[in-house]
Amino acid sequence: MSKLRVAVMASGGGTNLQQLLDKFPDRDDSTAGARVCLVVSNRPGIGALERAERAGVRTEVIDPAEYESPEAFGKKLIELYNGESIGLVVLAGYLKMLPSNLIVAYRNRILNIHPALLPLFGGKGMYGIKVHKAVLEAGVKLSGPTVHFVDEEYDRGPIIAQRPVPVYHTDTPETLAARVLEVEHQIFPEVVSLIAAGKVKVVNGLVHVTD
Ligand code: GRF
Repeated sequence: MSKLRVAVMASGGGTNLQQLLDKFPDRDDSTAGARVCLVVSNRPGIGALERAERAGVRTEVIDPAEYESPEAFGKKLIELYNGESIGLVVLAGYLKMLPSNLIVAYRNRILNIHPALLPLFGGKGMYGIKVHKAVLEAGVKLSGPTVHFVDEEYDRGPIIAQRPVPVYHTDTPETLAARVLEVEHQIFPEVVSLIAAGKVKVVNGLVHVTD
């Protein structure tokens, strides 16, 4: 069976990307069901690009501000992904809005990871340390990452996997972020493996994971 070809989009340091590069190397001789063969960033000079280069994976910097419209930006991405036979797009700390033509063309084939238990603590402007601050202010005792398919609304697409992480009264946003990030590093590659194995289906807008 041919391997699932994965493109990762990132805007930052790329610790989640690193996990994906390690578990899904772009090599014929690996036994993984997927391979990360492209990393796209919206800006140059970031850690995620360095990580991709170290792993020998193709990188592209595509700045949406350089395109005349979101559609033109989306068309560029669609052409790039079609040209590389990409079957799955993974957002790993990508902070730009995805154009709707890309979301339509890759419906249920774009993943995002969010560092809280959606549908709480998500939506526009809820990213990075702000998420963990909001969790602590709400006084909830559980948080944890959510992996979901991307649709037209921020942090609202079908949920694939979530994992609980305890919240302690001694936590700061930074200590909570670190605890959640560790679990992100486990759950994200697990979901990519499930998708590569054909075990994830969307039925009436809800995700079914089969054995
Ligand atoms: C993670 O916390 C993820 O949940 C969010 O962005 C952060 C990316 O971190 N979407 P990294 O760049 O993978 O280290």
